[in-house]
Amino acid sequence: MPTRNKTDDSKTLILGITGCIAAYKSPDIARGFMKLGYKVVPVLTKAATQFITPLTMQSICGGKAITSLFDLKNDNQFSHLSLSSQASAVLIAPATANILSKLANGTADDALSTLVLASKAPLFIAPAMNEKMYQNRKTQKNIDSLKKENAVFIGPQIGSLACGEEGVGRLAKVSLIVNSVEEALSDKYDFAGKKILVTAGGTREAIDPVRFIGNRSSGKMGYACAIELKNRGARVKLISANCSLSNPEGVEVINVETSKQMLEQVKANFSWAQAVIMSAAVSDFSPKKVLKEKIKKGKDLSVNLQKTPDILGELAKVKGNKILIGFAAESQDLISNAAKKLKDKKLDLIFANDITKKDSGFSSAYSELTCISPVGTEAIGRKLKEEAAAIVADKLKELFDSKILF
Ligand code: C5P
Repeated sequence: MPTRNKTDDSKTLILGITGCIAAYKSPDIARGFMKLGYKVVPVLTKAATQFITPLTMQSICGGKAITSLFDLKNDNQFSHLSLSSQASAVLIAPATANILSKLANGTADDALSTLVLASKAPLFIAPAMNEKMYQNRKTQKNIDSLKKENAVFIGPQIGSLACGEEGVGRLAKVSLIVNSVEEALSDKYDFAGKKILVTAGGTREAIDPVRFIGNRSSGKMGYACAIELKNRGARVKLISANCSLSNPEGVEVINVETSKQMLEQVKANFSWAQAVIMSAAVSDFSPKKVLKEKIKKGKDLSVNLQKTPDILGELAKVKGNKILIGFAAESQDLISNAAKKLKDKKLDLIFANDITKKDSGFSSAYSELTCISPVGTEAIGRKLKEEAAAIVADKLKELFDSKILF
Protein backbone atom coordinates (compact mmCIF):
# COMPACT_ATOMS: atom_id res chain seq x y z
CA MET A 1 0.00 0.00 0.00
CA PRO A 2 1.54 3.38 -0.98
CA THR A 3 2.18 5.74 1.94
CA ARG A 4 1.92 9.49 1.60
CA ASN A 5 2.92 11.94 4.27
CA LYS A 6 1.67 15.07 2.56
CA THR A 7 -1.82 15.98 3.76
CA ASP A 8 -4.29 15.85 0.95
CA ASP A 9 -7.52 17.84 1.35
CA SER A 10 -9.43 15.32 -0.71
CA LYS A 11 -8.80 12.77 2.08
CA THR A 12 -10.51 14.14 5.17
CA LEU A 13 -11.37 11.73 7.97
CA ILE A 14 -13.72 12.62 10.78
CA LEU A 15 -12.44 10.66 13.77
CA GLY A 16 -15.25 10.27 16.29
CA ILE A 17 -14.07 9.42 19.81
CA THR A 18 -16.52 8.29 22.47
CA GLY A 19 -16.26 7.77 26.23
CA CYS A 20 -14.31 4.58 26.74
CA ILE A 21 -10.89 3.78 28.20
CA ALA A 22 -9.70 2.72 24.73
CA ALA A 23 -9.87 6.43 23.78
CA TYR A 24 -6.23 6.60 24.89
CA LYS A 25 -5.49 4.80 21.58
CA SER A 26 -7.19 7.49 19.47
CA PRO A 27 -4.00 9.59 19.08
CA ASP A 28 -2.27 6.54 17.52
CA ILE A 29 -5.24 6.01 15.22
CA ALA A 30 -5.10 9.67 14.16
CA ARG A 31 -1.35 9.40 13.54
CA GLY A 32 -1.84 6.28 11.44
CA PHE A 33 -4.20 8.12 9.11
CA MET A 34 -2.05 11.25 8.99
CA LYS A 35 0.91 9.12 7.84
CA LEU A 36 -1.26 8.05 4.91
CA GLY A 37 -1.88 11.70 3.98
CA TYR A 38 -5.28 12.15 5.66
CA LYS A 39 -6.43 15.36 7.25
CA VAL A 40 -7.96 14.12 10.52
CA VAL A 41 -10.72 16.12 12.24
CA PRO A 42 -11.23 14.79 15.79
CA VAL A 43 -14.76 14.97 17.20
CA LEU A 44 -15.07 14.03 20.88
CA THR A 45 -18.22 13.30 22.85
CA LYS A 46 -18.48 14.81 26.32
CA ALA A 47 -17.68 11.45 27.92
CA ALA A 48 -14.64 11.02 25.64
CA THR A 49 -13.10 14.18 27.09
CA GLN A 50 -12.93 12.36 30.47
CA PHE A 51 -10.49 9.88 28.91
CA ILE A 52 -8.54 12.04 26.45
CA THR A 53 -8.29 15.80 26.25
CA PRO A 54 -9.33 17.81 23.20
CA LEU A 55 -5.93 19.52 23.47
CA THR A 56 -4.14 16.20 22.98
CA MET A 57 -6.14 15.44 19.84
CA GLN A 58 -5.78 19.01 18.62
CA SER A 59 -1.99 18.94 19.06
CA ILE A 60 -1.69 15.68 17.16
CA CYS A 61 -4.14 16.48 14.36
CA GLY A 62 -3.06 20.09 13.90
CA GLY A 63 -6.62 21.42 13.81
CA LYS A 64 -9.51 22.15 16.08
CA ALA A 65 -10.89 19.23 18.11
CA ILE A 66 -14.68 19.45 18.03
CA THR A 67 -16.47 18.77 21.29
CA SER A 68 -19.86 20.40 20.92
CA LEU A 69 -22.42 21.52 18.39
CA PHE A 70 -21.54 25.03 19.44
CA ASP A 71 -18.01 24.56 17.96
CA LEU A 72 -19.63 23.56 14.68
CA LYS A 73 -22.06 26.46 14.50
CA ASN A 74 -19.51 29.03 15.55
CA ASP A 75 -17.07 28.37 12.80
CA ASN A 76 -18.24 28.46 9.17
CA GLN A 77 -15.49 26.12 8.08
CA PHE A 78 -16.79 23.54 10.53
CA SER A 79 -20.54 23.89 10.18
CA HIS A 80 -21.93 20.37 10.59
CA LEU A 81 -23.10 20.34 6.98
CA SER A 82 -19.89 21.60 5.38
CA LEU A 83 -17.71 19.38 7.52
CA SER A 84 -19.81 16.30 6.85
CA SER A 85 -19.79 17.00 3.10
CA GLN A 86 -15.98 17.47 3.11
CA ALA A 87 -15.40 14.14 4.82
CA SER A 88 -14.12 11.20 2.80
CA ALA A 89 -15.13 8.97 5.70
CA VAL A 90 -16.27 8.96 9.29
CA LEU A 91 -14.57 6.56 11.70
CA ILE A 92 -15.75 6.14 15.26
CA ALA A 93 -12.99 4.57 17.34
CA PRO A 94 -13.62 3.67 20.06
CA ALA A 95 -17.40 3.42 19.72
CA THR A 96 -19.42 2.79 22.88
CA ALA A 97 -22.76 0.97 23.15
CA ASN A 98 -24.33 4.40 23.69
CA ILE A 99 -23.14 5.86 20.35
CA LEU A 100 -24.25 2.67 18.53
CA SER A 101 -27.71 3.13 20.00
CA LYS A 102 -27.82 6.81 19.03
CA LEU A 103 -26.63 6.18 15.46
CA ALA A 104 -29.00 3.24 14.95
CA ASN A 105 -31.89 5.44 16.02
CA GLY A 106 -30.90 8.65 14.22
CA THR A 107 -30.38 10.66 17.39
CA ALA A 108 -28.58 13.97 16.81
CA ASP A 109 -27.98 15.47 20.26
CA ASP A 110 -24.28 16.27 20.14
CA ALA A 111 -21.59 17.14 17.59
CA LEU A 112 -20.65 13.56 16.69
CA SER A 113 -24.15 12.11 16.29
CA THR A 114 -25.22 15.20 14.33
CA LEU A 115 -22.24 14.95 11.98
CA VAL A 116 -22.91 11.29 11.28
CA LEU A 117 -26.58 11.94 10.60
CA ALA A 118 -25.68 14.78 8.21
CA SER A 119 -22.99 12.82 6.37
CA LYS A 120 -23.18 10.67 3.27
CA ALA A 121 -19.56 9.58 3.70
CA PRO A 122 -18.79 5.91 4.40
CA LEU A 123 -19.10 5.12 8.10
CA PHE A 124 -16.60 2.87 9.91
CA ILE A 125 -17.15 1.81 13.49
CA ALA A 126 -14.63 0.20 15.86
CA PRO A 127 -16.59 -0.73 19.01
CA ALA A 128 -15.01 -1.18 22.43
CA MET A 129 -16.99 -2.10 25.53
CA ASN A 130 -17.59 -4.67 28.21
CA GLU A 131 -18.54 -8.09 26.80
CA LYS A 132 -21.99 -8.14 28.45
CA MET A 133 -22.83 -4.77 26.93
CA TYR A 134 -21.54 -5.91 23.53
CA GLN A 135 -23.48 -9.19 23.61
CA ASN A 136 -26.64 -7.48 24.83
CA ARG A 137 -29.52 -8.12 22.43
CA LYS A 138 -30.17 -4.39 22.10
CA THR A 139 -26.56 -3.61 21.17
CA GLN A 140 -26.53 -6.47 18.66
CA LYS A 141 -29.80 -5.18 17.17
CA ASN A 142 -28.26 -1.71 16.81
CA ILE A 143 -25.17 -3.20 15.14
CA ASP A 144 -27.36 -5.17 12.69
CA SER A 145 -29.35 -2.10 11.86
CA LEU A 146 -26.19 -0.01 11.23
CA LYS A 147 -24.71 -2.83 9.09
CA LYS A 148 -27.88 -2.80 6.99
CA GLU A 149 -27.20 0.88 6.36
CA ASN A 150 -23.70 -0.04 5.13
CA ALA A 151 -21.71 0.90 8.23
CA VAL A 152 -18.51 -1.17 8.29
CA PHE A 153 -17.57 -2.69 11.66
CA ILE A 154 -13.94 -3.30 12.56
CA GLY A 155 -13.69 -5.56 15.61
CA PRO A 156 -14.16 -5.74 18.50
CA GLN A 157 -11.54 -8.34 19.31
CA ILE A 158 -11.38 -10.98 22.01
CA GLY A 159 -8.97 -10.31 24.90
CA SER A 160 -8.66 -8.77 28.33
CA LEU A 161 -11.07 -5.93 28.91
CA ALA A 162 -10.63 -2.78 31.02
CA CYS A 163 -13.10 -4.14 33.59
CA GLY A 164 -10.73 -7.04 34.29
CA GLU A 165 -12.87 -9.61 32.45
CA GLU A 166 -11.82 -11.62 29.39
CA GLY A 167 -14.02 -11.70 26.34
CA VAL A 168 -15.12 -9.98 23.20
CA GLY A 169 -15.14 -6.19 23.41
CA ARG A 170 -11.53 -5.02 23.01
CA LEU A 171 -10.91 -2.25 20.50
CA ALA A 172 -9.44 -3.73 17.30
CA LYS A 173 -5.69 -3.21 16.81
CA VAL A 174 -4.81 0.31 15.66
CA SER A 175 -3.08 -1.05 12.51
CA LEU A 176 -6.14 -3.17 11.66
CA ILE A 177 -8.44 -0.15 12.02
CA VAL A 178 -6.22 2.10 9.86
CA ASN A 179 -5.58 -0.53 7.17
CA SER A 180 -9.25 -1.64 6.94
CA VAL A 181 -10.44 1.92 6.40
CA GLU A 182 -7.66 2.80 3.94
CA GLU A 183 -8.25 -0.37 1.90
CA ALA A 184 -12.00 0.24 1.69
CA LEU A 185 -11.46 3.87 0.74
CA SER A 186 -8.80 3.30 -1.88
CA ASP A 187 -11.30 1.13 -3.78
CA LYS A 188 -14.07 3.68 -3.43
CA TYR A 189 -11.92 6.80 -3.83
CA ASP A 190 -9.86 5.78 -6.82
CA PHE A 191 -9.39 9.46 -7.77
CA ALA A 192 -8.14 10.59 -4.34
CA GLY A 193 -5.48 13.27 -4.80
CA LYS A 194 -6.36 13.89 -8.46
CA LYS A 195 -7.24 17.38 -9.67
CA ILE A 196 -9.57 17.52 -12.63
CA LEU A 197 -10.96 20.40 -14.63
CA VAL A 198 -14.33 19.77 -16.29
CA THR A 199 -16.20 22.11 -18.63
CA ALA A 200 -19.95 21.93 -19.15
CA GLY A 201 -22.84 23.66 -20.85
CA GLY A 202 -22.94 25.79 -23.96
CA THR A 203 -21.32 29.17 -24.52
CA ARG A 204 -23.29 32.24 -25.61
CA GLU A 205 -21.87 34.82 -28.00
CA ALA A 206 -23.63 38.18 -27.86
CA ILE A 207 -25.07 39.76 -31.00
CA ASP A 208 -26.63 42.71 -29.16
CA PRO A 209 -27.63 43.25 -25.51
CA VAL A 210 -30.55 40.83 -25.96
CA ARG A 211 -29.63 38.19 -28.55
CA PHE A 212 -26.86 35.68 -28.67
CA ILE A 213 -25.62 32.71 -30.63
CA GLY A 214 -25.99 29.70 -28.38
CA ASN A 215 -26.56 25.97 -28.52
CA ARG A 216 -28.76 23.32 -26.99
CA SER A 217 -26.26 21.92 -24.47
CA SER A 218 -27.79 21.55 -20.98
CA GLY A 219 -24.47 20.77 -19.26
CA LYS A 220 -25.89 17.48 -17.86
CA MET A 221 -22.99 15.37 -19.16
CA GLY A 222 -20.30 17.67 -17.73
CA TYR A 223 -22.09 17.96 -14.38
CA ALA A 224 -22.49 14.17 -14.23
CA CYS A 225 -18.72 13.79 -14.87
CA ALA A 226 -17.88 16.38 -12.19
CA ILE A 227 -20.13 14.66 -9.62
CA GLU A 228 -18.83 11.17 -10.44
CA LEU A 229 -15.18 12.27 -10.13
CA LYS A 230 -15.86 14.20 -6.92
CA ASN A 231 -17.66 11.18 -5.45
CA ARG A 232 -14.62 9.06 -6.29
CA GLY A 233 -12.31 11.39 -4.35
CA ALA A 234 -11.06 13.87 -6.99
CA ARG A 235 -10.85 17.59 -6.45
CA VAL A 236 -12.94 19.00 -9.27
CA LYS A 237 -13.28 22.46 -10.76
CA LEU A 238 -16.25 22.81 -13.07
CA ILE A 239 -16.32 25.62 -15.60
CA SER A 240 -19.97 25.99 -16.34
CA ALA A 241 -21.43 27.90 -19.26
CA ASN A 242 -25.07 28.90 -18.94
CA CYS A 243 -26.38 25.81 -17.16
CA SER A 244 -29.51 25.83 -15.05
CA LEU A 245 -28.34 22.90 -12.91
CA SER A 246 -27.65 23.33 -9.22
CA ASN A 247 -24.02 23.48 -8.10
CA PRO A 248 -22.82 20.01 -7.13
CA GLU A 249 -21.81 19.80 -3.47
CA GLY A 250 -18.05 19.74 -3.00
CA VAL A 251 -17.25 20.89 -6.55
CA GLU A 252 -15.84 24.37 -7.23
CA VAL A 253 -18.03 25.90 -9.92
CA ILE A 254 -16.77 28.78 -12.08
CA ASN A 255 -19.52 30.36 -14.15
CA VAL A 256 -18.76 31.78 -17.59
CA GLU A 257 -20.88 32.95 -20.48
CA THR A 258 -18.79 33.26 -23.65
CA SER A 259 -16.16 31.12 -25.37
CA LYS A 260 -13.60 33.85 -24.61
CA GLN A 261 -14.38 33.68 -20.88
CA MET A 262 -14.26 29.89 -21.02
CA LEU A 263 -10.84 30.00 -22.67
CA GLU A 264 -9.57 32.43 -20.01
CA GLN A 265 -10.82 30.25 -17.15
CA VAL A 266 -9.54 27.01 -18.68
CA LYS A 267 -6.12 28.60 -19.18
CA ALA A 268 -6.11 30.07 -15.65
CA ASN A 269 -6.83 26.65 -14.12
CA PHE A 270 -4.81 24.49 -16.50
CA SER A 271 -1.62 24.40 -14.42
CA TRP A 272 -3.68 23.28 -11.37
CA ALA A 273 -5.28 20.35 -13.20
CA GLN A 274 -3.87 16.95 -14.04
CA ALA A 275 -6.64 16.23 -16.52
CA VAL A 276 -9.19 18.27 -18.47
CA ILE A 277 -12.54 16.97 -19.64
CA MET A 278 -13.97 19.39 -22.20
CA SER A 279 -17.60 18.43 -22.37
CA ALA A 280 -18.81 22.00 -23.01
CA ALA A 281 -20.31 22.84 -26.36
CA VAL A 282 -18.17 25.83 -27.22
CA SER A 283 -19.51 28.03 -29.97
CA ASP A 284 -17.29 27.84 -33.05
CA PHE A 285 -18.25 31.35 -34.14
CA SER A 286 -18.98 34.68 -32.51
CA PRO A 287 -20.30 37.91 -34.05
CA LYS A 288 -17.44 40.12 -35.27
CA LYS A 289 -19.09 43.12 -33.71
CA VAL A 290 -21.35 43.19 -30.64
CA LEU A 291 -23.95 45.93 -31.03
CA LYS A 292 -24.42 48.20 -28.02
CA GLU A 293 -28.12 48.79 -28.73
CA LYS A 294 -30.85 46.24 -29.39
CA ILE A 295 -31.28 45.65 -33.14
CA LYS A 296 -34.64 46.99 -34.27
CA LYS A 297 -37.18 44.88 -36.13
CA GLY A 298 -37.00 45.59 -39.84
CA LYS A 299 -35.35 44.30 -42.96
CA ASP A 300 -33.43 41.05 -43.39
CA LEU A 301 -30.17 41.12 -41.54
CA SER A 302 -26.84 39.42 -41.79
CA VAL A 303 -24.40 39.05 -38.94
CA ASN A 304 -20.70 38.74 -39.68
CA LEU A 305 -19.16 35.90 -37.73
CA GLN A 306 -15.58 35.16 -36.75
CA LYS A 307 -14.00 31.92 -35.57
CA THR A 308 -13.70 31.53 -31.79
CA PRO A 309 -10.47 30.17 -30.29
CA ASP A 310 -10.30 26.38 -30.18
CA ILE A 311 -9.78 25.84 -26.45
CA LEU A 312 -8.59 22.25 -26.72
CA GLY A 313 -6.42 23.28 -29.66
CA GLU A 314 -4.76 25.89 -27.40
CA LEU A 315 -4.29 23.34 -24.60
CA ALA A 316 -2.76 20.85 -27.05
CA LYS A 317 0.14 23.29 -27.56
CA VAL A 318 1.03 23.20 -23.84
CA LYS A 319 -0.27 19.72 -23.02
CA GLY A 320 2.86 18.29 -21.33
CA ASN A 321 1.88 15.15 -19.41
CA LYS A 322 -1.70 16.30 -18.74
CA ILE A 323 -4.62 14.20 -19.90
CA LEU A 324 -7.02 15.83 -22.35
CA ILE A 325 -10.46 14.39 -23.04
CA GLY A 326 -12.88 15.88 -25.53
CA PHE A 327 -16.42 15.27 -26.67
CA ALA A 328 -17.59 15.42 -30.26
CA ALA A 329 -21.24 16.01 -31.05
CA GLU A 330 -21.70 14.86 -34.63
CA SER A 331 -24.62 14.58 -36.98
CA GLN A 332 -22.68 12.80 -39.75
CA ASP A 333 -19.57 10.61 -40.22
CA LEU A 334 -19.48 10.21 -36.43
CA ILE A 335 -16.37 8.10 -36.05
CA SER A 336 -14.19 9.61 -38.76
CA ASN A 337 -14.98 13.21 -37.71
CA ALA A 338 -14.34 12.46 -34.06
CA ALA A 339 -11.14 10.55 -34.84
CA LYS A 340 -9.88 13.57 -36.80
CA LYS A 341 -10.57 15.85 -33.79
CA LEU A 342 -8.74 13.40 -31.50
CA LYS A 343 -5.65 13.71 -33.70
CA ASP A 344 -5.86 17.46 -34.45
CA LYS A 345 -6.43 18.42 -30.78
CA LYS A 346 -3.84 15.90 -29.47
CA LEU A 347 -6.44 14.32 -27.19
CA ASP A 348 -5.97 11.17 -25.16
CA LEU A 349 -9.61 10.25 -25.68
CA ILE A 350 -12.66 11.63 -27.42
CA PHE A 351 -16.26 10.62 -26.78
CA ALA A 352 -18.26 10.83 -29.98
CA ASN A 353 -21.92 11.60 -29.50
CA ASP A 354 -24.41 10.85 -32.27
CA ILE A 355 -26.87 13.74 -32.00
CA THR A 356 -29.17 12.39 -34.71
CA LYS A 357 -30.37 9.61 -32.37
CA LYS A 358 -33.78 10.10 -30.79
CA ASP A 359 -33.81 10.96 -27.05
CA SER A 360 -30.04 11.06 -26.75
CA GLY A 361 -27.51 13.89 -26.71
CA PHE A 362 -28.37 17.56 -26.09
CA SER A 363 -30.75 18.15 -23.14
CA SER A 364 -31.66 14.44 -22.98
CA ALA A 365 -31.02 12.35 -19.86
CA TYR A 366 -29.24 9.85 -22.13
CA SER A 367 -26.26 9.88 -24.42
CA GLU A 368 -25.02 7.37 -26.92
CA LEU A 369 -21.26 7.57 -26.87
CA THR A 370 -18.40 5.94 -28.73
CA CYS A 371 -15.01 6.15 -27.03
CA ILE A 372 -12.16 6.77 -29.46
CA SER A 373 -8.50 6.62 -28.43
CA PRO A 374 -5.34 6.60 -30.55
CA VAL A 375 -5.44 2.78 -30.36
CA GLY A 376 -9.05 1.95 -31.03
CA THR A 377 -12.77 2.56 -30.91
CA GLU A 378 -15.29 1.24 -28.39
CA ALA A 379 -19.05 1.65 -28.66
CA ILE A 380 -20.51 2.47 -25.24
CA GLY A 381 -24.12 2.46 -26.33
CA ARG A 382 -27.10 4.38 -25.01
CA LYS A 383 -26.69 5.14 -21.32
CA LEU A 384 -28.07 7.51 -18.72
CA LYS A 385 -25.64 10.41 -18.49
CA GLU A 386 -24.74 9.40 -14.91
CA GLU A 387 -23.82 5.90 -16.16
CA ALA A 388 -21.92 7.37 -19.11
CA ALA A 389 -20.03 9.64 -16.66
CA ALA A 390 -18.95 6.57 -14.65
CA ILE A 391 -17.56 5.06 -17.87
CA VAL A 392 -15.77 8.33 -18.74
CA ALA A 393 -14.24 8.26 -15.23
CA ASP A 394 -13.17 4.60 -15.62
CA LYS A 395 -11.43 5.44 -18.91
CA LEU A 396 -9.74 8.44 -17.30
CA LYS A 397 -8.59 6.22 -14.43
CA GLU A 398 -7.00 3.82 -16.96
CA LEU A 399 -5.13 6.79 -18.43
CA PHE A 400 -3.92 7.94 -15.01
CA ASP A 401 -2.80 4.39 -14.19
CA SER A 402 -0.85 4.19 -17.46
CA LYS A 403 1.05 7.43 -16.72
CA ILE A 404 4.10 6.89 -14.54
CA LEU A 405 4.42 10.57 -13.68
CA PHE A 406 1.21 10.95 -11.69
O1 C5P B 1 -14.25 20.93 -32.98
P1 C5P B 1 -15.44 20.60 -32.16
O2 C5P B 1 -16.10 21.78 -31.57
O3 C5P B 1 -16.45 19.73 -32.78
O4 C5P B 1 -14.81 19.70 -31.00
C1 C5P B 1 -15.50 19.36 -29.87
C2 C5P B 1 -14.57 19.33 -28.69
O5 C5P B 1 -13.74 20.48 -28.70
C3 C5P B 1 -15.33 19.44 -27.38
O6 C5P B 1 -14.61 18.71 -26.40
C4 C5P B 1 -15.36 20.92 -27.09
O7 C5P B 1 -15.50 21.18 -25.72
C5 C5P B 1 -14.02 21.36 -27.64
N1 C5P B 1 -14.01 22.72 -28.20
C6 C5P B 1 -13.05 23.60 -27.79
N2 C5P B 1 -13.02 24.86 -28.29
C7 C5P B 1 -13.90 25.26 -29.24
C8 C5P B 1 -14.86 24.35 -29.70
C9 C5P B 1 -14.90 23.09 -29.14
O8 C5P B 1 -12.24 23.23 -26.95
N3 C5P B 1 -13.85 26.48 -29.70
